[in-house]
Amino acid sequence: MTKILLVDDEASIRNMMRMTLELDGYQVLVAENGPTALKIFRETSPDVVLLDVRLPGIDGIEVLSRIKAIDADAEVVIITGHGDMDMAVEALRKEASNFLAKPVSEELLGLSIKRSLEKIALRNKLKQYTRNLETLVREANVELEKAYQFRENIIENCPDALVCIRKGGEIIIFNSAAERLLGYKKHEVIGKMNIVSIYPQGVAKQIMKLMRSNDLGGPGILQKREATLIDKWGKEIPVSISAAILYDSGQESGSVGVFTDIREKLKLEKQLLRSEKLSSLGKLSAGIAHEINQPLTGVLTFAHLLLRKYKGDERTRKDLETIVRETTRIRGIVQGILDFARETRMQKKPYRIEKVLDQTLEIIVHQQRFFGIALEKDYDPSIPEIVVDSNLMEQVFMNIILNALDAMDGTGTLRVTTRLRDQWAEVSFQDSGHGMPEEILDKIFDPFFTTKDSTEGMGMGLGLAVSYGIVRGHNGDIQVTSKPGEGTTFTLRLPVGEAATEGPPPGYNLD
Ligand SMILES: Nc1ncnc2c1ncn2[C@@H]1O[C@H](COP(=O)(O)OP(=O)(O)OP(=O)(O)O)[C@@H](O)[C@H]1O
Ligand SMILES: [Mg+2]
Repeated sequence: MTKILLVDDEASIRNMMRMTLELDGYQVLVAENGPTALKIFRETSPDVVLLDVRLPGIDGIEVLSRIKAIDADAEVVIITGHGDMDMAVEALRKEASNFLAKPVSEELLGLSIKRSLEKIALRNKLKQYTRNLETLVREANVELEKAYQFRENIIENCPDALVCIRKGGEIIIFNSAAERLLGYKKHEVIGKMNIVSIYPQGVAKQIMKLMRSNDLGGPGILQKREATLIDKWGKEIPVSISAAILYDSGQESGSVGVFTDIREKLKLEKQLLRSEKLSSLGKLSAGIAHEINQPLTGVLTFAHLLLRKYKGDERTRKDLETIVRETTRIRGIVQGILDFARETRMQKKPYRIEKVLDQTLEIIVHQQRFFGIALEKDYDPSIPEIVVDSNLMEQVFMNIILNALDAMDGTGTLRVTTRLRDQWAEVSFQDSGHGMPEEILDKIFDPFFTTKDSTEGMGMGLGLAVSYGIVRGHNGDIQVTSKPGEGTTFTLRLPVGEAATEGPPPGYNLD
């Protein structure tokens, strides 16, 4: 119900107006002076105040001021007597809603209150509208923020490195994968580094040129091209790059590049190539060796026979001895080739890898070539038993150790380490020998590649090819790091547990 506060010091006016208003359906509160009016106002918050301008004590203007101080939107209608025009003007200045002159006609009173109530309704509507508008704006902001966050998330969690630059090369986006790939943190790069510094010299320019040309994917686009990046520490990282120029109202404004690390892919390709090479070479050489073997055995048997029976001069005997020696050497080589290419089913059983290692070392440490060498062992006891063909694995270890001894030439340290890393048992042989340059490192697994003088019957260049085939047959791999003058480390990785499955190694499988 609409509440009206009626303030007048004259009881007769109060009563008369009260009756009229109550008849019109309003709830009427009355006060005969300022302080009572303010008290009621505070306690009941009436919708409209009808305020006589002349009151004893604090006058109507003052009461109006105080009401407005409590609620600036309060609807106060001033009632003036004859000759109170100045006060009426003053009241309007102080934001009274309206004024009525005494004697107040019923009609004007009703109209005035109605207008005040309409004003209140309008104001409330306006307030509601503003509130709705505010909510809408807030919601739109949240949506906008969400959309922005969503886009940020996509960029940030993209598994490939994503880098965005402004025209001129300043880096403005550098996601987490880019951080991982290149080693820089966002804050070191964004707004501080130019794209040219993550490429080798001149490459950034070439890439922009390609992107603007029609060649690879059309103008403005560069599709999957292999390139090299330079990381924080100056290391070269091979990547596949896709990029696009960004346009703003038809004008070039920057570009975006996505980089995929292809180190693992290149490694696998190299491995595959090596396996294929081994396999085809294995087939070819096994065929030849097989053909040579039979007549060779004949030559050797008869040469031996001749030597035993020969009673003639010393010179001819020496010649015969040479024939036997050289033929024996050829047989050794042929045997090596057959070993390399043989089709053997591996006999795998669970072994402790350090036991296989120790058995191999036991054979070699007592030989003279090991005397000047310090042997250091560092075994990881947490490696479980792994499934291997122990004879073949001994052969692998032996090949690698013999190579290390050759490289150290009588003095140095051989460090044998085992480690459990994820689901892999790692066995490393680190020697302090002469090491190898990059050109040699690339070829050491090739069959018949050797830098050794093979007149002694050794150094056929098969040791590592054979070893590699055996390790691949165990689903493992061999990695090498080497520096000329500093030494070499061979690291074998063999799968632990289920990953070790049965099967002949590549190069062994000759069907
Ligand atoms: N630990 C090492 N330090 C330096 N060079 C090495 C080492 N291991 C291997 N190499 C290089 O790799 C080449 C190939 O090794 P691989 O064992 O396959 O053949 P080889 O030792 O020459 O001959 P084979 O093993 O058949 O007697 C070697 O000739 C040598 O140049
Ligand atoms: Mg060797």
